[in-house]
Amino acid sequence: MIAQTTVDTVFETARVEEVIGDFVQLKRAGSNFKGLSPFSDERTPSFMVSPVKQIWKDFSTGKGGNAVAFLMEHEHFTYPEAIKYLAKKYNIEIEETQQTDLEKANTDLRESMYLVSEFAAKYFQDVLLNSEEGKAIGLTYFKERGFTNETIKKFSLGYSPETWDAFTKEALGKGYKMEFLESTGLTIPREDRPFDRFKGRVMFPIQSMSGRVLGFGGRILTNDKKAAKYLNSPESDIYHKSKVLYGIYQAKQAIAKQNNCFLVEGYTDVIQFHQAGIENVVASSGTALTPDQIRLINRLTKNITVLFDGDAAGLRASIRGIDLILEEGMNVKVCSFPDGEDPDSFAKKTSYDDLVRYLDENAKDFIQFKASLLMKEAQNDPVKKADLIRDMVTSISKIPDRIQREIYIQECARIMDISEQVLVSTLAQLVQKEITEIGKKQKQEQKAFEIVKNESAAESPKIDILYSLERKIIEILLLYGNKTELFEDVLLKTNEDGIVEMYTEKKEYKVVDRIYLSLQEDEVELSNEMFRNIFSDLVAYYNQVEHFSLESYLMRIPPDLAQEVTDIIMEDEQLVMHNWEGQNIFPKYKSDSISQYVSETILSLRWYLVGSIIEELKSSIQSDVNADNTELLMMIMDYSKLVNTFSQKLGRVMSRYH
Ligand code: CTP
Ligand code: MN
Repeated sequence: MIAQTTVDTVFETARVEEVIGDFVQLKRAGSNFKGLSPFSDERTPSFMVSPVKQIWKDFSTGKGGNAVAFLMEHEHFTYPEAIKYLAKKYNIEIEETQQTDLEKANTDLRESMYLVSEFAAKYFQDVLLNSEEGKAIGLTYFKERGFTNETIKKFSLGYSPETWDAFTKEALGKGYKMEFLESTGLTIPREDRPFDRFKGRVMFPIQSMSGRVLGFGGRILTNDKKAAKYLNSPESDIYHKSKVLYGIYQAKQAIAKQNNCFLVEGYTDVIQFHQAGIENVVASSGTALTPDQIRLINRLTKNITVLFDGDAAGLRASIRGIDLILEEGMNVKVCSFPDGEDPDSFAKKTSYDDLVRYLDENAKDFIQFKASLLMKEAQNDPVKKADLIRDMVTSISKIPDRIQREIYIQECARIMDISEQVLVSTLAQLVQKEITEIGKKQKQEQKAFEIVKNESAAESPKIDILYSLERKIIEILLLYGNKTELFEDVLLKTNEDGIVEMYTEKKEYKVVDRIYLSLQEDEVELSNEMFRNIFSDLVAYYNQVEHFSLESYLMRIPPDLAQEVTDIIMEDEQLVMHNWEGQNIFPKYKSDSISQYVSETILSLRWYLVGSIIEELKSSIQSDVNADNTELLMMIMDYSKLVNTFSQKLGRVMSRYH
């Protein structure tokens, strides 16, 4: 784990406008910066960065947050990756927290493996570009395949010399330990003489989503049928074949922006597509997609287009794997190439415009594609056709969305020329079977589920008023929590005649304390989970620091709360964005009288909650004429009086339903 001190230094140093400025062109607009949204294709800027508040907001997609949130959103970094990126940018040394010796040893081991791999990638690239052998053999080969220098650099392609242990020697000479050369598989151990795994091959480094080198694919240059065409790094602590996708580092932004991911088989398919101008492409490296790989794509887009080589054999095999993608709730299209072509060869001889058009015209919805393909095979063969129906329905049953399933049923019925009824009943059978299988597990969870269900059912009609009141409370905490204000308290005292009477007293409170105490007093928690989390995080933060500042809170806000908080704070800014000032339409400042604003909000919440109690009581009154409802009616009357005093205090008659 990264030490909190490092995280703090990073947050204190990083400037959101500088961080974002590396990715988005920003222009000054008053006290803010404006730019084109990096998350959508737009012509008029709706992306805003506030250097004062150290946050950003993208009004076209609703995303927003601090510098770290930007990196997580834009670069698809995890939280630690974002912190590390910032530390590197600002030359901050990363301190790791106390780990157990074993944990520390393991992180160190993995880190050493990364370093060796990164060194190897640099070495192979250097050999490719600068050595005689590399230029004559490796570079010539890549040039023949049509790769430009730019492409070669983008994918850090390299060459491993045709010498027994050239790389191993070089690495050892530079102080890398044999232990890590072996655990990464770069060197193959042998008692007398360890040797280079990839000798005499052109090298394709395999990178993680954040760009770290995990392993390599090395292609042989001869046509030796006995030797494997590609040799890959073995599984290791840093390289898990089933969890990586070749090209994801170079493709991630394009995938998110295009909202689609092309999936191909080979390294060279990916590279050739990039060179042709299509960057949203990754390769499964010759095997069927695994759930981990699908989830990797799912972080970036819900849409995937699987590209097949032009041979029918591979096609059938791949089709089976696609049900997995459907299961993850993704939309799948497929596209095949003319006979004898693969994405690499096709992209190489096709112009960008033609390639885009080809993909556009030939990408077919997977379910329809599968149905028509299998139909061709099953024609006039009733047994095959029955199999086909089951096969299709199995695919459809994997789709989590009910409406989508229904649409597919209709489509398939049409393509396969059978009645929808047959498909529906087959689907029902399948689903029924699955349900019975998971039935037992569900029963155990049922009780918990029912409680949740009842709660949400009871809440649903009131949600809007409550939602905005709770949101207001968060807003007040964020903007004015630190202010000290005069509040009016209603107290009780006994006068000289021994009679208890009410009187009011003005007293100073910090706004955050006032709100916290009021909610405590009423024994209420915010009902919205997100607001509740922000509330407790904020209150904890207020208690932790001596001087609260919104800026520093925003800097260290947990990523999952960042968006909601930015939304609340940026509401004012949005008015500025639209230049309403210029049109003399000022938003009403809430800070005119903070204590009044706070008191009214709390009072409104009370009024609302008491109102809900009344509703509940009313609904439990029994219609049975003989039932004694006196108690209930008394309570309702008491509460109604309370509601009236709230209304009076708020200076208006409040109706519950608008
Ligand atoms: N592959 C592999 N080992 C092999 C053959 C293939 O790991 N012996 C993987 C590689 O990731 C390769 C992918 O499967 O990129 C697709 O294989 P293939 O289509 O044969 O290779 P291409 O990438 O098309 O390579 P080339 O065009 O250089 O023949
Ligand atoms: Mn190929």
